[in-house]
Amino acid sequence: MSIQTAYNAWADTYDTVLNKTRDLEAVAIRQLLAKLPFAEVIELGCGTGKNTEWLATKAAHVTAVDFSAEMLARAQAKLAGGNVRFQQADVTQPWSWAQQPAELVTSSLILEHIADMGPVFRHCSQALRPGGWFYVGELHPFKQYQGSKARYLAATGAEVTVECYTHHLSDFLAAARPHGFRCLDLREYFDDNDRTAVPRIVSFLFQKEA
Ligand SMILES: C[S@@+](CC[C@H](N)C(=O)[O-])C[C@H]1O[C@@H](n2cnc3c(N)ncnc32)[C@H](O)[C@@H]1O
Repeated sequence: MSIQTAYNAWADTYDTVLNKTRDLEAVAIRQLLAKLPFAEVIELGCGTGKNTEWLATKAAHVTAVDFSAEMLARAQAKLAGGNVRFQQADVTQPWSWAQQPAELVTSSLILEHIADMGPVFRHCSQALRPGGWFYVGELHPFKQYQGSKARYLAATGAEVTVECYTHHLSDFLAAARPHGFRCLDLREYFDDNDRTAVPRIVSFLFQKEA
């Protein structure tokens, strides 16, 4: 099953079924971006709008992008008539929909579904103002080494595992560097804040060279 088809089918239950990765990443993005000022934001893989609602309270305008029509529909239902423009697109393809330079691009739990992160970092660099930020929040690769993957129960009761790719910590830095990004911050988040366990979420804050 394609990743797009899988998310179309997951959309109905994405918000309602317990999902520690979804919820801990929501904490991560709010902490890392709390003090940054941003007006124009691009959100990659907005899904059902978990972070879109919060970004829209902080920004003048958000462009929320996803290639799953069903995930987008859930987000749109939550944010109708506001300062958010929704766009159905594959973010690995050229961002012809990006209308004006952004101060911030965010990417939450999407890069694990993209084999080659290079084009995303390239498009992101082109869409950002000099000095702009790129936030990335992902399932920690240490969790992936243990077999964790995005999965859900289909309406039939069968478990569906979405196609995922492991990106090592160094892969994020290697993908960022050629496109003029430097890493300003890297944080790790643990279930129940238990730092003796394997971290669940890794988050990065990159800045495009001024
Ligand atoms: C795990 S969900 C995360 C949704 C939301 N960001 C969150 O944190 O709850 C991943 C989302 O990325 C989207 N996605 C995956 N690959 C994509 C691609 N190449 N282009 C656009 N969207 C993509 C999926 O459709 C899905 O909505």
